[in-house]
Amino acid sequence: MAVSKISGLLRTHHCGELRDSDCDQTVVLCGWVNKYRNLGSLHFIDLRDKYGITQLGFVDFKGNIDELKKCSLESVIMVKGKVQLRPKEAQNAQMETGMVEVQVQELTLLSRSDIDSIPFLPFGSVEATEDLRLKYRYLDLRTKKLQDILKLRSKTMNTIRQLLSSEDFIEVETPILYKSTPEGARDYIVPSRVHPGQVYALPQSPQTLKQLLMIGGTDKYFQICRCFRDEDLRSDRQPEFSQVDIEVSFSTQEYMKNLVEKILKAVFNKSDSFSLPMMTYKDAMNTYGCDKPDLRFGLKQMIVTDVFKGSEFATFASVGDNGGIIKAMFVPEALGQFTRKDTDGFVEIVKPYGGKGVAFYKLSKGERSTGISKFITPEIEAKLFSCSEEKGDGTWLFFADNNPSVAHASADALRRNLGQKLNIIGKEDAFLWLYDFPLLEWSEEANRYTACHHPFTMPARDKLDVFMSADYQDPKSALSTLTAEAYDVVCNGYEIGGGSIRIFDNTVQDRMFKVLGFTPEETKAQFGFFIEALKYGVPPHGGLAFGLDRLIMILTGTDSIRDVIAFPKTASASDLMSQAPSRPSEAQLKELHFNWTK
Ligand code: AMO
Repeated sequence: MAVSKISGLLRTHHCGELRDSDCDQTVVLCGWVNKYRNLGSLHFIDLRDKYGITQLGFVDFKGNIDELKKCSLESVIMVKGKVQLRPKEAQNAQMETGMVEVQVQELTLLSRSDIDSIPFLPFGSVEATEDLRLKYRYLDLRTKKLQDILKLRSKTMNTIRQLLSSEDFIEVETPILYKSTPEGARDYIVPSRVHPGQVYALPQSPQTLKQLLMIGGTDKYFQICRCFRDEDLRSDRQPEFSQVDIEVSFSTQEYMKNLVEKILKAVFNKSDSFSLPMMTYKDAMNTYGCDKPDLRFGLKQMIVTDVFKGSEFATFASVGDNGGIIKAMFVPEALGQFTRKDTDGFVEIVKPYGGKGVAFYKLSKGERSTGISKFITPEIEAKLFSCSEEKGDGTWLFFADNNPSVAHASADALRRNLGQKLNIIGKEDAFLWLYDFPLLEWSEEANRYTACHHPFTMPARDKLDVFMSADYQDPKSALSTLTAEAYDVVCNGYEIGGGSIRIFDNTVQDRMFKVLGFTPEETKAQFGFFIEALKYGVPPHGGLAFGLDRLIMILTGTDSIRDVIAFPKTASASDLMSQAPSRPSEAQLKELHFNWTK
């Protein structure tokens, strides 16, 4: 591959390009000094750029050989020389350019690297801490790992753009300085200079805007866009991240699923027969304890509350009557056995999710032992196995709580932990289309219903009358049982996309805000423009957004979102390199009419 189809670069070839067929050519290479070897009479430099490494020799060098000493590691140099076959014993078949070397005639030191103060060598043998690598991100970006990720990210974006364009989608940019778009996080806000005391909100997603584009007749929209959310960060969350945002008029959930399959086929090189397995939210919770199950391994869970009803084991017997559930998970002996230390440690795994412990017993050659074995009668055991796909010897684990969410979350946490620990996670990516999400959930903290997806999601259509009339101030009203036309795309335990079919009737939308506790005045002030737009002819529409960063995490097999973003932020939302956020100057504060004392 040639360096560039456009002439005018300082070099004739890049550092991964030369082969034995190029011998005797005079070439110019530019790059970083990756290694310098001084063997007395012989000197070698390994010259590196993003394409590879080429060995430079200095037998024909016309300048003063002492000049090489100035070319410290990570300095950028330009050399002119002749391509030559390496002596047989120096040829390296493992290296793409390993048959040849360039015998340098002229060398120009373009930019010297201060080796005494450089914080770390990107290709050095000592691994720098992540904080140091983030602070000097431009040095870390020189590594092959990060360059490969950037390249793959760009290629993926191209693939998606091409595919969507070929399906008649158009890419439309939407504003960054906008108004609150509720996606469940806090907004980042930007004070206005010209409107004292007023702010813009950075979009948590272009949700209302893409719907307005549908109302505006755009029909099929997409955008690779930035979203901003002020929320607690995790290894798969950044405050500023990218979405492949999609909206389609006259679409159904089936259309969205087909489109997602087409995108995944293109991005993950899947065969034509690839289709997404489907699972309802309820099945996912019951079987895996979460709405983003990692299907690369088993360890399915069962609800066994009724099995213990009326049993001798008082703690379990009453759980059902108290509104709680008991989940069970069977780990066959072939997958793993647990020591006392292991089972003692289970409580620590479930504690962060509110779990108070994990009950268990072992079954070996028909004998029950340890844990709660004395409460397990043959009848109970027979019932447990009748719910289980697995049979034989192994360990039964139980998650009981009067709050079903705690039992689910605990079972999920231990399942994920065991997946890793027992080394049973398969290599194939496991995708899933999760649907039939609940529409609303009651927030004890806010003392009102909140939207499980977002407030623009269509309630299950056959229950619209319930949605329009049920008591929205009662946590147990029929509203709590409604499902939504919402769906998620899940892969390997990550939610990589989510969307819904939208409300397109202004009275339903108005009702949604009321159910979510907005007063008519608040609704008007925040979403009046949107609800009004729903009055003037709206195509039924739906859409979805992929988390681009998470897609790239899966493609590259990394478990840190920071790896797939050129300039990521830390878990406390700071940029260690530029030291953002930082205090504005006094003049800026004054202009923005701020009166900060600290
Ligand atoms: P949602 O909030 O589910 O839906 O976001 C869509 C996808 O974006 C990714 N994602 C994130 N990635 C990195 N860091 C974050 N902080 C973060 N938050 C979300 C996830 C998620 O599945 N407007 C709706 C989409 C729609 O209804 O069409 C929305 O934003 O992969």
